[in-house]
Amino acid sequence: MGKDDNKSIEEFLAMLRSRSGSEYVSGQTLANSAGISRSAVWKQIKRLRKYGYTIESVHGLGYRIKNGTQLPVPWELRKVLQTRFLGSKILYRNVVDSTQNIAIAIAEKGNGTHGTVVIAEKQRQGRGRLKREWLSPPGGLWMSVILEPEMPTRMVTLLPFVAALAICHAIRQCTGLDAKLKWPNDVMISGKKVAGILLDISAEAEHVNYSVIGIGINANIDSSSISARFAGEMPRITSISDDLGKDVSRLELARTVLENLEKRLSDLTDDNVAAILKEWEANADMLGRLVKVMQNGRMVCQGVARGVADDGSLIIQEESRKVKIASGDIRVRY
Ligand code: BTN
Repeated sequence: MGKDDNKSIEEFLAMLRSRSGSEYVSGQTLANSAGISRSAVWKQIKRLRKYGYTIESVHGLGYRIKNGTQLPVPWELRKVLQTRFLGSKILYRNVVDSTQNIAIAIAEKGNGTHGTVVIAEKQRQGRGRLKREWLSPPGGLWMSVILEPEMPTRMVTLLPFVAALAICHAIRQCTGLDAKLKWPNDVMISGKKVAGILLDISAEAEHVNYSVIGIGINANIDSSSISARFAGEMPRITSISDDLGKDVSRLELARTVLENLEKRLSDLTDDNVAAILKEWEANADMLGRLVKVMQNGRMVCQGVARGVADDGSLIIQEESRKVKIASGDIRVRY
């Protein structure tokens, strides 16, 4: 879908809304107002339905919008989003290889991309942490956020913590589900992973050119289709719809994540690092538990998870000493 197609669908939608209200509007009226043919009207109606709008059509009367979409399409997201810079540009695609790769390509091209958001309905080659595959069927919220942050390189490692907090709270706000955090960047519901974060950065010694925060939320998908593929692996996987028993509005979820994220990004200063990590710890459900640290499929250490250090590493209490873990996965017995 090109940018101009977006524009025309947005204009057609505005016209349908203003013309029909709660009444039906005939195909001919729509065609006349838009200066297009009746068959072009029909095509636009079909596209709107594909984007999740419920449009009633009654023979002899015409069309009427019954329900708006719950999809995070840019023309709807822009209307509700209350942010200063996040979502300044929003790209929405039906199928992509990876929103992360698209966002990186945009960021590489140059300035003025701060706050750009790329969203896709489905990813063919979604990327996860540690070079893993991230299965991204339709129904999830797959999005990448470009930042050109004015911050020292050492602070960038905290971006995923801030993003995880933003997602965790957004899931709670939109669904009431008790989302929790798991080191390093997972969001969990009842001990199962519901969302993950991938950070890509381009930086020189002390300067960050850009960073791209990739956000994957299993929103309205059947998690068993993903679990089947990763049988036996930890952590176990869930989705919001599986836990909630109904779909969540991805429009509302995207909006809340982005609003939370922007607020938290502006709070990310040297003075606030301790407070942010404290909040992260308060929302985690793995501290005080016995955990195994896995690197490349091997257990490298085992102990009680105590907290997160200023650089984002996990502090583990082994029998007689404390160790700091900078990367890897954690296995927790919930
Ligand atoms: C993880 O392994 O937990 C991180 C998963 C991150 C997935 C998201 S989905 C949107 C963005 N595009 C990608 O290819 N990956 C990230």
